Amino acid sequence: MSKSNENLTTSWGAPVGDNQNSMTAGSRGPTLIQDVHLLEKLAHFNRERVPERVVHAKGGGAHGYFEVTNDLTKYTKAKFLSEVGKQTPLFVRFSTVAGELGSADTVRDPRGFSVKFYTEDGNYDLVGNNTPVFFIRDAIKFPDFIHTQKRNPKTHLKNPNAVWDFWSLSPESLHQVTTLMSDRGIPATFRHMHGYGSHTFKWTNADGDGVWIKYHFKTEQGVKNLATDVADRLASENPDYHIEDLYNAIEKGDYPSWKLCVQIMPLEDADTYRFDPFDVTKVWSQKDYPLIEVGRMVLNKNPENYFAEVEQAAFSPGTLVPGIDVSPDKMLQGRLFAYHDAHRYRVGANHQMLPINRPKVEVNNYQRDGQMRFDSNGGGSAYYEPNSLGGPAEAPESKQAAYSVSGVAESVAYDSEDHYTQAGDLYRLLSKEEKMRLVENIVGAMKPVESDDIKLRQIGHFYKADPEYGKRVAEGLGLPIPQEV
Ligand code: HEM
Repeated sequence: MSKSNENLTTSWGAPVGDNQNSMTAGSRGPTLIQDVHLLEKLAHFNRERVPERVVHAKGGGAHGYFEVTNDLTKYTKAKFLSEVGKQTPLFVRFSTVAGELGSADTVRDPRGFSVKFYTEDGNYDLVGNNTPVFFIRDAIKFPDFIHTQKRNPKTHLKNPNAVWDFWSLSPESLHQVTTLMSDRGIPATFRHMHGYGSHTFKWTNADGDGVWIKYHFKTEQGVKNLATDVADRLASENPDYHIEDLYNAIEKGDYPSWKLCVQIMPLEDADTYRFDPFDVTKVWSQKDYPLIEVGRMVLNKNPENYFAEVEQAAFSPGTLVPGIDVSPDKMLQGRLFAYHDAHRYRVGANHQMLPINRPKVEVNNYQRDGQMRFDSNGGGSAYYEPNSLGGPAEAPESKQAAYSVSGVAESVAYDSEDHYTQAGDLYRLLSKEEKMRLVENIVGAMKPVESDDIKLRQIGHFYKADPEYGKRVAEGLGLPIPQEV
């Protein structure tokens, strides 16, 4: 049908006679309302924007593939992991968290690391970050936390008071705050950072046996970060620095790649491990659970169209395939609701039918209708279940693996209140120079906080993680050093 020099048409396909001059009464006008091409053009333009993502609004994406390099079928029946050498197409989106769609790439912020695997059993989304832990560990705190990262509703300005007020009153954030303020808080590019699933997930094999797992994407470009002053300069000189870097690298054939590894924990260890392994503010020791290679991810194709692919992409931690289930992690459980709900609002009820989101396998179900249903809507096939019409049937072998739960139903925190050991371990692991930059970054970020109470409360947390850590931040801020904890 399509020809290279075909006519310009209206959206209803009729040839357009004039796209430069509105229809007017004489050359002076006024403009005639009967110029429906003009009306359509202006009206469509008004509707060009969809809401930006409420978090992770700014990002870049690319297509690629995943190749299995290690046989882990004794742990998972996920078909895309069934054979060494097997390749699965995928789409990745990297992002910053707090800024708007037009914000600068090189700010100090976690980076989103979302992967959509188009597997033969449907899509599998891994929606993680470039950090292994998170600021909070209960979904009920997420909207409040994000309010502090966004603009003050009164002034429309960023608000360091809110940021540090919230963190100092939420000590579970300390591990992630330490990571964020360290060199890794500003990756040099999207290509030079690791990725993490962060949460604990569950793998189940063909016999129904399960294990708990954590995902690690290891960059094959090596980790590189930006010094704060360089990042600040780039933020004004080239706010799209990271998106541009990814695009250019792929255009010139310098395809970025990551090795995917997992940590594997036997199910029963979850009851006896020294902290709750579902708490997303903690990492599992790699001495206890070493990294095991799974495969390799390569990004080798840029999107043809940013809006169609990157902006309309809808990732959700609830987009799972048989062999991969969730864990009781309270953040993850909340996310299972939040993402598909956001997609229905942001992109629409039928967002899963858009080319970027559509699985590469046939979708067979009894869902019908909804705004923008643009396929055949099931045609004349069975539209309810159970039916005796031979409609699509359940696959019982794909049921989520069962696991037992017990407990008293109440609003209650995780058992452990130790927010300090792992944050302190991370501090002690840093070199002298890295510690110096960490403290500098924290002091720089906390200086604009107006309230000494907030600063002192936060210093108390650094002190509890490691007395030297607390003392150095206190010194930098010219505040008293906490004497005791
Ligand atoms: C994006 C909610 C925690 C990583 C989003 C979006 C929402 C959301 C509503 C926008 C989705 C869209 O419009 O497409 C939440 C809630 C959380 C939570 C309620 C806690 C309960 C996390 C955590 C991580 C994470 C712990 C990482 C481990 C991401 C990423 C994106 C995102 C990478 C961008 C996805 C993309 O590239 O399209 N989140 N989030 N979030 N979130 Fe979360």
